[in-house]
Amino acid sequence: MFSKMATTVHTPFVLLLFQIGVFSLPVSQTPQESPTCGYKSCHAIKPGMLNVHLVPHTHDDVGWLKTVDQYFYGARNDIQHAGVQYILDSVVDQLLKNPDRRFIYVETAFFYRWWKRQSGDMQDTVKQLVDEGRLEFVNGGWCMSDEATTHYSAVVDQMTIGLRFLNDTFGPCGRPRVAWHIDPFGHAREHASVFAQMGYDGFFFGRLDYQDRSRRKASREQEMVWRASESLVPPVADLFTGILPNGYNPPEGFCWDQLCDDPPIRDDPDLEDYNVEDVVSKFLTVAQEQAKVYKTNHIIMTMGSDFQYENANLWYKNLDKLIRYVNQKQVNGSNIHVLYSTPSCYLQELHRANLSCPYFPMRIDDFFPYADAAHDFWTGYFTSRPALKRYERISNSYLQVICNQMEVLGGPTSRNGSFGVGNSDTMKKAMAVAQHHDAVSGTEKQHVADDYARRLANGWTQCQVLVSNTLAALSGSSAPRVYCEHLNISVCPLTESSTFDPEVMWVFRRLCSTSLQVVPVSQATVVVRRDRGYAVNELLFQVRAPPMGYSTYSVSLLQKGPPPASPFPRAPKDIQNKVRAWRFLKVTFDPETGLLSSLSNLETQQTVRLSQNFYWYNASDGNNKDSKQMSGAYIFRPNSSTTFIISKTAKIETVQNSVVQEVRQWFSPWVSQVVRLYADSRVLELEWTVGPVPIGDNMGKEVITRFDTSINSSGIFYTDSNGREVLQRRKDYRPTWTLTQTEPVAGNYYPINSRAYIKDEKDQLTVVTDRSQGGGSIQDGSLEIMLHRRLLHDDVRGVGEPLNEASDLYPEGLVVRGRLLLSLNPPAVAANTHRPLAQEVVLQPLITFTEGLLPPNTSLPLDFSGLQTALPPAVHLLTVSQWDPDLVLLRLEHQYEARDSKEHSQPVTVNLQVSPLPSTFILLTGLSPSYRCAVCLSGEKPLPKTKGDPSVWEVTLKPMEIRTFLLRVRLR
Ligand SMILES: *[C@@H]1O[C@H](CO)[C@@H](O)[C@H](O)[C@H]1NC(C)=O
Ligand SMILES: *[C@@H]1O[C@H](CO)[C@@H](O)[C@H](O)[C@H]1NC(C)=O
Ligand SMILES: *[C@@H]1O[C@H](CO)[C@@H](O)[C@H](O)[C@H]1NC(C)=O
Ligand SMILES: [Zn+2]
Repeated sequence: MFSKMATTVHTPFVLLLFQIGVFSLPVSQTPQESPTCGYKSCHAIKPGMLNVHLVPHTHDDVGWLKTVDQYFYGARNDIQHAGVQYILDSVVDQLLKNPDRRFIYVETAFFYRWWKRQSGDMQDTVKQLVDEGRLEFVNGGWCMSDEATTHYSAVVDQMTIGLRFLNDTFGPCGRPRVAWHIDPFGHAREHASVFAQMGYDGFFFGRLDYQDRSRRKASREQEMVWRASESLVPPVADLFTGILPNGYNPPEGFCWDQLCDDPPIRDDPDLEDYNVEDVVSKFLTVAQEQAKVYKTNHIIMTMGSDFQYENANLWYKNLDKLIRYVNQKQVNGSNIHVLYSTPSCYLQELHRANLSCPYFPMRIDDFFPYADAAHDFWTGYFTSRPALKRYERISNSYLQVICNQMEVLGGPTSRNGSFGVGNSDTMKKAMAVAQHHDAVSGTEKQHVADDYARRLANGWTQCQVLVSNTLAALSGSSAPRVYCEHLNISVCPLTESSTFDPEVMWVFRRLCSTSLQVVPVSQATVVVRRDRGYAVNELLFQVRAPPMGYSTYSVSLLQKGPPPASPFPRAPKDIQNKVRAWRFLKVTFDPETGLLSSLSNLETQQTVRLSQNFYWYNASDGNNKDSKQMSGAYIFRPNSSTTFIISKTAKIETVQNSVVQEVRQWFSPWVSQVVRLYADSRVLELEWTVGPVPIGDNMGKEVITRFDTSINSSGIFYTDSNGREVLQRRKDYRPTWTLTQTEPVAGNYYPINSRAYIKDEKDQLTVVTDRSQGGGSIQDGSLEIMLHRRLLHDDVRGVGEPLNEASDLYPEGLVVRGRLLLSLNPPAVAANTHRPLAQEVVLQPLITFTEGLLPPNTSLPLDFSGLQTALPPAVHLLTVSQWDPDLVLLRLEHQYEARDSKEHSQPVTVNLQVSPLPSTFILLTGLSPSYRCAVCLSGEKPLPKTKGDPSVWEVTLKPMEIRTFLLRVRLR
């Protein structure tokens, strides 16, 4: 007899916390400010004049053409001349030479690398620069995250890591006041909402649609108040937002970096080419021109760009002169005043001008899609590198659900236990780096994409040790755990071992509600996994895992039985849940084509026509009458709106048993799909497999799946923003400006991070995705999602490589597999399904395997839960993570929007005191509300805080609110 155990670890809902002693920690949000940092350190302005705020800065990508570490060291300068360590060395040196000089630094991932290699003396010197506001951190996250393809949980985490480092290292003077996303290719409303809730006073960025920009310039509306949530009560998510004048570059002619060619200021009249008058008069003109497109008598100029300031002397020497000579003109009547400044100093002046809210326009939509010219829509990267996007997403899931929580549950044993030394830090940092706007976005070079994946893989390895240690401690069994990371293609060395004879009957030690079934592995899976596995059957059974805990299932061989039934070679008329108590969904198939033809919700008695197929757009190679723009890693540019069908019909295999019904559709050697309905499921699963995308015909391909339905969607569809609030999208339309549509498909694509839907009065069809993808609704009733892209040209936005992914295992091109989950509901209650569903997909359980027999009459706990009671359905446990040896970080959120659901969109009160023992907590800097009007500075108003008061055990969450706590806990 042979036995295997599968353990399922699941997402938690309430944490059982025990307190040791009364707890109080200094909350240093309204700090004993050091004399001069922050707003106090700003240089004086001249009230009656036009004040030009010069902001020296560098934009340091946390990986793009080179890996993050290559950029740090300045390695591989043959690819791109860039070395961040030298930038920081040089800037510090130059700041010391003149106390007037200022510098802002943004990417904490780099600053951290530099800091830990500095001597104590140098660290003290830098601390002093920070204390005096001469070196100021802005944004302050580990990286400058992408906004189109990230999930808010990972964004909040990466901000937390960066901000925590700054606080721990520099205290209150290290706290950034403004968010600074100068490079991301479009801006998500949820990002602005998170920034507002984190207490940032303002937000600056560089890129927005060229039509939107020119309109805003003409009407001087480049500065605004972004109302970033439709649910949070204003002004909780209101954030002052400024568009920078030149992207993030200096004005033309004024770039004095070693990477630039502009003439230096030659100010010795005895030497040749004296040019002071010339430079000054040009600068005065530039400043006056810029002032015409902004409203106040303050303007900002970004003096720097990508990886600049490696030899900071060049910049500062010329800026010192510029300031001196321009201001000298004031004696002769010039009314322009130039000063070293920072974005927060600039913001402070807008604040001081006492401008009321209506002065700055209100923005309520987001900044997607981004186009920099008529045929240049940056909507390709919503899907670019779909495999990396999925790996990033499951790594997030693994970190949040498994690694962080197992660390909390296991305590110190988790980090050093029977399986050795492990940590969650490697994964946290790898995930933080992966949020960068050239990482998960898919816009990096291939070797850099490989580096991001390798970092994540290292994170998994460390986490697995930690998880094994905790499971061993909790279960009392130190049998080795096997983590099968390729279960999606039915590869798992342990369960494939020879004793796992396919022709046998398996039985559960603990039978659950449905029986166990053996199903043959599909042909598509056999093709994808190559020679990495040889299982012919899969074992299927329903598992239930308790919140923040695990369940153990033992599977053992009893006797040889009949082999599983061979798949049936035709599509059934329909499939529906078969068990009488579970009558949820029915899908029908067209007998001629084998395609889906309708979807019904049996509970609500709704039916819609629904056909689905796979198509591709021919990616433009630049030979197009309208424009030479090619499709590439950033840009989606189909050569025309024509879609090419991959196959009108699908070859079918059907597998039906008491656990699952599968209709396996085979469209071509590179496209297949499994339509899957589990016995007790309210959603239809579509598991697609696409690739290697053929390019033998010399045509780049952008592969989509499209749902065509009878839903009367009137040109409107909906997409989520970073996995959270949902925005309405209307074809050929932007809510706050008049669009001239120049790309009928690419110009109607939007990022989908977790879900998209179309609806009419009766029906809402929601598609939940397993990673970020691009999509659109080009025809009424239709919803398309781009799954994979394989391109033959670079799109001339810097990456310098065509997006043509291959790997050692797939030299002929990458194969990608993923899932779409479909549900059909009346619109008024649809959110009750898709909100929890999307969370489930984002935070999925982990299955581990152990070989060996479960001892009879075992006293081992087969189930364990760290939680005592369930949270209300509207409340989601966003984060549980070990903060330091004594403290646990807890984030709770209301997961419904105000308009979502009669049932759930209500304030809900949670009592954190779920354990019989009392505990105390404090609010932590982070996602806790701070209130501001148009341009208020929260530094002048303390954030609300709570500590040690038993009455505040009750936490009330309003729709879309996130609350953060630090708890001192002790596990039983
Ligand atoms: C910020 O850092 C200080 C030490 O400089 C520490 O006492 C405080 O707890 C930190 N605050 C947070 C929120 O981490
Ligand atoms: C100001 O004007 C006077 C008289 O024209 C001239 O001599 C002087 O150089 C000017 N100063 C500057 C800074 O341009
Ligand atoms: C703004 O208001 C304050 C207080 O009312 C006042 O002292 C200050 O001069 C005003 N600033 C401007 C630029 O009007
Ligand atoms: Zn960048």
